[in-house]
This record gives sequence, C-alpha cells and structure tokens, in this order.
Amino acid sequence: MDKPNQNKTGQKMWGGRFSDNPSEIMQAINVSIDFDRKLYAQDIEGSLAHSEMLAAKGIITSEDKAAIHRGLAEIKAEIEDGTFPWSRELEDIHLNIEARLKDKIGEAAGRLHTGRSRNDQVATDFRLWTREQLEHFSARIGKLMRALLAQADANTDTIMPGFTHLQSAQPVTFGHHMLAYLEMFARDRSRFDDCRNRMNESPLGAAALAGTPYPIDRDMTAKALGFDRPMANSLDAVSARDFALEALSAATICATHLSRLSEEIVIWTSAQFGFIALSDKFTTGSSIMPQKRNPDAAELIRAKVGRIMGALTALTIVMKGLPLAYSKDMQEDKEPVFDAFEALDLALAAMTGMIGDMVPRKGRLADAAGAGFSTATDLADWLVRSLNMPFREAHHVTGSIVAMAEKQGTTLDALSLGDMQSVHGAITDDVYSVLSPLASASSRLSYGGTSPTRVAEQVARWKAKLS
Ligand code: ARG
Repeated sequence: MDKPNQNKTGQKMWGGRFSDNPSEIMQAINVSIDFDRKLYAQDIEGSLAHSEMLAAKGIITSEDKAAIHRGLAEIKAEIEDGTFPWSRELEDIHLNIEARLKDKIGEAAGRLHTGRSRNDQVATDFRLWTREQLEHFSARIGKLMRALLAQADANTDTIMPGFTHLQSAQPVTFGHHMLAYLEMFARDRSRFDDCRNRMNESPLGAAALAGTPYPIDRDMTAKALGFDRPMANSLDAVSARDFALEALSAATICATHLSRLSEEIVIWTSAQFGFIALSDKFTTGSSIMPQKRNPDAAELIRAKVGRIMGALTALTIVMKGLPLAYSKDMQEDKEPVFDAFEALDLALAAMTGMIGDMVPRKGRLADAAGAGFSTATDLADWLVRSLNMPFREAHHVTGSIVAMAEKQGTTLDALSLGDMQSVHGAITDDVYSVLSPLASASSRLSYGGTSPTRVAEQVARWKAKLS
C-alpha cells in the first residue's frame, strides 16, 4: 500500500509546503485565521457584550467578567500594535483570542464561552463587520454624489450630444448627463441602507443551533451591539448569510453603474471624442507612445465589477443547497465579501476623484452636439407645429432635408432657406430658431427633461437633499 501523500517511489504527490502528514492538510484546509483575523474588533466587541450579559444574569461572577474585560482590552491592544502571537494551529480568530485570554487571565477565560458557540459568534462578528461596511458605503457613495452634483451645477447649460445606440440622437446638457448618474448612485445608496436596516438583528445567543439552557438575555446583548433586536429563530441565526448576499448584490449593481460611467470616461477622453480632459492625477502615460494619456483608473473601475459579481456568484453557490443549520462551507463566506468590498471601496474613491478632476471641453462638446443632424427631430416638430403637418409627413420631409445636408457635407442649421424650401415651399426662416443644439436642448422643458431650466431645478433639489 502507498503511504498517504506518497507514490510508490516515495515521491511526494503534493507540493513542497506539505509533509506526508494528512493532519497538516487538514489544518491547511481548515484554517481561517489568515483572513478572519480581520474580524478581531467585532469578535472582541461581541465577547465584551456577551460577558457583560453573563455577569448581569448571574451566570458568571463580576470578578470573572472584570478579568475577561481586562484581558480582552490587552488583546485588542496587542493586535493593534502588531505583537499578538497569531497561531495557525488555533484555526480561527475566535480560538486565537480565547487561547490568548487564557494565557492572560487563566481559568476565567474558559467561562466566556458559556451559552455561546462559535456558530453564533462568527455570525455575529460577520454581521457587525458587514454592517459597518454598509454604513461606510452609504457615506462613500454620498461623496461621489456630491462630486457629480458639483459637475452638474457647473454645467447646467453645457451642451453635448446625447446618444442612443452610441449614435448621435438629440442634444442634451452635460449637467443632465451627470445627474443621470447621480440618480443611479442615489438608488445604490438606498440599497445599501435598506440592506443595513434589514440585516441589523443579532444572532448572538443562538448558540450552536438550538439556543441554550442558560438564562441568557439576548435583548441585552443585541442592544449592546447596536442591533435592533435578537434574531427570532436560532437555526436561522447561525445559518443565514443572505445579508451578505444582499450586500454583494447591492455592491454588484453599484459596480455596474461605476462600470458604465467608466466606459463613458474612456470614450470621452479618446482623441476622437475629446469631450473631457483628465489631469495627470488620474491618467498614465505610455512607455513607448509619448502622445498617450491613458484613462487607467476608469478602465480598472470598469473591470472591478468582474470580481465583485464573481464574489456574489461564489457565495451564492456556497450557500445553495446547504442544509440547516451551520456547515463549515460557510467559512467560505468571508473572503469573497472582503475582496469585493475592498474593490468597491477603491473603485468608489477613484471615481469620486476622477469626477472632481474631470474638465468638460465645452467647445468640443458643442461642436459634437451639432454633428450627426442631432436637431432633425426639432425640425420635424417645427413642421408639425408651424405648418400643421402630420408628424409622419414631417418625418419624411425632414428626412429629405437631412439627405440634402448630408450631400452638401453641412449641418442642418447651415443649410440655406432656399434649399429647405426646395423640399417644402412653406418653410420660413423661423425654422432656424429650433435648429441649434442649444435651442433644441432648451426646448425640452418636460419634467425630467434636459433643458438648462429643468437641470438647474434638479441641481437645486439635490443640493437641498445632500446638504
Ligand atoms: N471559522 C469558522 C467560520 O468562519 C467559525 C465557526 C466554526 N464553527 C464550527 N462549528 N466549527 O465559519
């Protein structure tokens, strides 16, 4: 018979890290301290609340509680100044801290875990950590919204081309375009806020899965940890990870919006578009092509959605099909969330910086706004209004005038009146009042429309909301 991890010639089947001892493999797959140490502050906070409650209920003595609190404070300081003796043999953050507590205060450390299990402990830690992140994202998105608002405010009447199918459609204002993203990010922020409010219930005291015979007070620990209430079902409390899935869903949607805005920045900074300029702060050069100024930050933000949505997919698949209550599979919940949130945080910060940095090139935007016969719809509308023409006929007449302008290589507002009258004799020179991009945008006064008047109103509304 072959020995474990060795073939017939004694050559190791696994990499050099491993000896032929299967228990090391067990440790390697089991250990989580390399990533769950991120939860140290939440773990200590939970233990402080739990021991406070145990003492209040007479389950441990107040002397033991005092020793536990003193020990935990020392441990926190050790972790924060880098002197904590991390041990991979001790598997995870919970056992690392408990073992260290025993070094420090002896037997009383063993009483901390009364009426509690690592199952409700990890669920509590992870919820506390995620809640803090959700609150952080809400604030972060607020900063991005303010940056977009400042651009909108400065550009309520900056005319640019509006696109559908990335083809010139109708002129819009740059401020209007910025406010479109502001609306999207506002919804993203409300998704994070909703998620935060829904997940703010305490698993602590659910113990391993079934609750505990000790006379614990779950309301007390919930309150101490800032939760709205204890979770009502102990099986659910230790096995639910939908709060993390929901947070990742919100993160994925937000990353999608960041990706769309990034794509526009990439397009807009190209020489062919030249709609905006970015400074040296958010661009890089090429090592071979001296003329280049690459929008790397935008490209990287555009890509981040991949890993963020990857995290959502990964955790969804970890959770699907898991029976109640806790299974070790769930230890795989943390890394995707940590990674995705770090990526989103960086992406939001970089986008906020870029939006503040970006300078719209007004002349270039105005020229582009007039290109592509972007006021053809305005011409058709003028024919309907001024000549009482049915819209279908006006569409046809406009099509012929556009073809004429195209043939002459000119824009609609540069065509002579005579040329236009050759298509339809009743056209008067009043038509020129609607053919400029500014006139076109300004006429779109319907609620939510692009006219500078409406955009300024929305800017004022957002200023009041975000102040
Ligand atoms: N490290 C574990 C995790 O992250 C903690 C819970 C362990 N529970 C257990 N019954 N082994 O999920």
